[in-house]
Amino acid sequence: MEQSQIILNTKVFVQETLKDAEGGHDWFHILRVYNNAKNILSRETANGFVVELASLLHDIADSKFHNGDEEIGAKKAKAFLETQSVDPVTLKHVVNIIKNVSYKGGHNSGDFHSIELDIVQDADRLDAIGAIGIARTFNFGGFKNNPIYDPEVPGNPNQSKEEYKKSNSPTINHFYEKLLLLKDKMNTKTAREIASQRHEFMEKYLDQFYKEWEGKL
Ligand code: ADP
Ligand code: NI
Repeated sequence: MEQSQIILNTKVFVQETLKDAEGGHDWFHILRVYNNAKNILSRETANGFVVELASLLHDIADSKFHNGDEEIGAKKAKAFLETQSVDPVTLKHVVNIIKNVSYKGGHNSGDFHSIELDIVQDADRLDAIGAIGIARTFNFGGFKNNPIYDPEVPGNPNQSKEEYKKSNSPTINHFYEKLLLLKDKMNTKTAREIASQRHEFMEKYLDQFYKEWEGKL
């Protein structure tokens, strides 16, 4: 099968599979990550077919909804790619990327590494920052019914990740927990440049947020 046909089939498969997905990881997240990945690809040297397939399939299943089975996404992707007569080397590479892409599992924790993994990971992380990142974060906080901000609960660097996850921390705290840390985690030069603009935008946003909160504008 032609590569372009496989990409097309993959888009249809992912869109259909994610039709009831939660807002943070729906088809539009996939599409943004895919576009981010193609932007990065245009300025880095890598296997474009692998990057496109992996970015489309990277969130095909969430372990949270499958009894914590961390491999469920990789398994689903593998089963799909086998129906598309994808060559075994490409298939193995895409599956390895999916296993290693998540923020928590970060590829530093595994022994697999490739420029294609770097690109997909950057593309996913870019969607967690900037204007879109802000929207996703408040969407998540709203879903949890968390306060947007509480001056009594400052972004607390001493709070452990577990305490933070259990608490109903104000959504603004998540900026300090994750969003503002992402620009320094980018793997590629291209993503670092895009991230730096998105980071500045978040800092401006927070400045304005605190000014408005305190009635200073
Ligand atoms: P990822 O898809 O990168 O593994 P998550 O599933 O943890 O990330 O989060 C999905 C989206 O929800 C991200 O944009 C993330 O920043 C946001 N999010 C995660 N945890 C929180 C939280 N405690 N408060 C607000 N937003 C959150
Ligand atoms: Ni993702």
